[in-house]
Amino acid sequence: MTYQVIIPAAGQGKRMGAGKNKLLLTLEGVPVLIHTLKVFEDDAECSGIILAIHHDDEEEFRALLNTYGIRKVSSLVKGGKERQDSVYNGLLAVGSMDGIVLVHDAARPFIKQGIIHELVDAASKEGGAIVAVPVKDTIKKAAGKLVAETVERSSLWSVQTPQAFRASVLLEAHNKAAREQFLGTDESSIVERIPHPVSIIEGDYDNIKLTTPEDLYFAEAILRKRKETGV
Ligand code: CTP
Ligand code: MG
Repeated sequence: MTYQVIIPAAGQGKRMGAGKNKLLLTLEGVPVLIHTLKVFEDDAECSGIILAIHHDDEEEFRALLNTYGIRKVSSLVKGGKERQDSVYNGLLAVGSMDGIVLVHDAARPFIKQGIIHELVDAASKEGGAIVAVPVKDTIKKAAGKLVAETVERSSLWSVQTPQAFRASVLLEAHNKAAREQFLGTDESSIVERIPHPVSIIEGDYDNIKLTTPEDLYFAEAILRKRKETGV
């Protein structure tokens, strides 16, 4: 089943501390942005990529799309102050509201096609679906520096992107969030408050978001593992 994907790429990468957008850092000589875009470029089910970018990056990003032969970017839209604003701008560039739209962080280059397809199928049935992995650590709730309680772990999930929705559902969620000035940390949180059901697809732990410098070591290890094992 086909889908379009909105890729927010308009952040500043402050926590990475690279002095530039972290998406321009390279892994095996290829920019993170391109690693992520290639997954969708190579997926026959992906009918178009909408990329939200910061004005300062436009020239460099356009040159990279050209150099690496990324042809599916149907729109380049302006990023906003917050990630949610960038996604909203992307959503307004989605032509028809009938289909499935994915949102995937440019900073997660290791997403696999098989998981994307499972997610799209689930979203087409339910209207909304997210990729997540079971929480591995024991989680405590604290009051200041004192443990208040140990949270039951079996029902906790660590949520990633991509997240997929019927485009009309995501638009309704964004319109409501904008009206009510609600800022969520992911798309699901604004869809949940419509309210609208969202189902969970179990993904894998490789789908990390490159956030802080040590994530680059993990990224290199994941790429090495893929070369050696093919998965
Ligand atoms: N993003 C965006 N628009 C923003 C903020 C973030 O499009 N106003 C994008 C980033 O480019 C990234 C994704 O959203 O691909 C996830 O955000 P995050 O990992 O927080 O990246 P940054 O905001 O760039 O990093 P930081 O928060 O450390 O500055
Ligand atoms: Mg950020």
